[in-house]
Amino acid sequence: MIVDRTDFPLLATNRGLHYLDSAATSQKPRAVLDAMMNYYTHDNANPHRGAYALSARATQRYHAARERVARFVGVRDSTRLIFTRGTTESLNLVAAAWGRANVRSGDEIVLTGLEHHANFVPWQQLARDVGAVLRIARLTPDGHIDVDHLASLVGARTKAVAFSHVSNALGTINPVAELSAIARRVGAVVVCDGAQAAPHLPLSIDDLDVDFYAFSGHKMLGPMGCGVLVGRRDLLEAMPPYQTGGDMIEYVGDERSTWNVLPHKFEAGTPNVGDAVGLAAACEYLDAVGMRAVREHEQALTELASVKLGAVPDVRIYGPEPAARSGVVSFTVGDIHPHDLATILDEMNVCVRAGHHCAQPLMRRLNVPATARASFYIYNTESDIDALVAGVERAREIFGVAAG
Ligand SMILES: Cc1ncc(COP(=O)(O)O)c(C=O)c1O
Repeated sequence: MIVDRTDFPLLATNRGLHYLDSAATSQKPRAVLDAMMNYYTHDNANPHRGAYALSARATQRYHAARERVARFVGVRDSTRLIFTRGTTESLNLVAAAWGRANVRSGDEIVLTGLEHHANFVPWQQLARDVGAVLRIARLTPDGHIDVDHLASLVGARTKAVAFSHVSNALGTINPVAELSAIARRVGAVVVCDGAQAAPHLPLSIDDLDVDFYAFSGHKMLGPMGCGVLVGRRDLLEAMPPYQTGGDMIEYVGDERSTWNVLPHKFEAGTPNVGDAVGLAAACEYLDAVGMRAVREHEQALTELASVKLGAVPDVRIYGPEPAARSGVVSFTVGDIHPHDLATILDEMNVCVRAGHHCAQPLMRRLNVPATARASFYIYNTESDIDALVAGVERAREIFGVAAG
């Protein structure tokens, strides 16, 4: 643990809880809850609209939140940082607004077999609607993207290459620079799903050669309902809007309308100021811990979990070696169904995810219907891993496990 567990009200009031599902959503520190309460108590009004001081304060809080989040993820020009509901909405925005304007029948979109459905289905839908072709890069047996195969798929018709920075199901940290360089050879747009990277790795989006980068606030100590899309300015300016309505317009004529400047062009309707303020407070908290320390702590826990879980008979761990992954360990235990395993673990106060992790294309490639997944964050300790291992041993006893 590199933070005080009592900073997290839910963990403080559930002292025996072993929360190992932070890849799904993180717990929230009091600093985030307080920041949101403070906003609603003192500064809440509809921003950008009111001619009165309170509305101006709400506008200022929203603007300051955007600047704070931009600084955290290494984006100098905060007007290219768009607040969304989360990674899913960010990626749908790109596939819908950029995709429909730029991808034509016969064009190709390259994805990988590692993707979360949020970075898979929007592209699949786009391809079906416009008659484009999806190309899906293979994986290596240890859960890396097969970079040579991906390179062989990228060609003159490739319009976009979309991949995750970090896999939610295996934890694989992908070589963003190498993958981007392959896309650049043919002038394809690079879309990176950073949902599992922004919370866990030191990040400077300006230094990554990507055109779009998406992440969610709720996985990085912030509230649910607030996420981010960072886009390349010229692409965002050339794209049509994603949604239309209030705030995103410059002028509305009877026949046609013109659009507001960035970022407002992509933020139709009343913005989610309270959650943006909460996300900014989460960035403040993580910066105080230090993202290098976050990474080191999670790496140490991942290595420990791999050793301790790996020593239990019948446990099979999926994905790359611990040093090449974030704080995610996906595993199965003999022929125990991961849902049964998760139920037994729950009885022992251990929360893990069981299922396909919104990555059915990956599960097909691993040839398993589901896995159990333990994922770590700054509030986890070795005792959480020990509880996990004890729970797995208990499950083996109950099921008199047969090797799978
Ligand atoms: C890699 C990855 N991409 C996208 C998403 C979707 O994020 P959200 O549900 O916050 O929109 C997740 C969430 O689990 C994820 O792990």
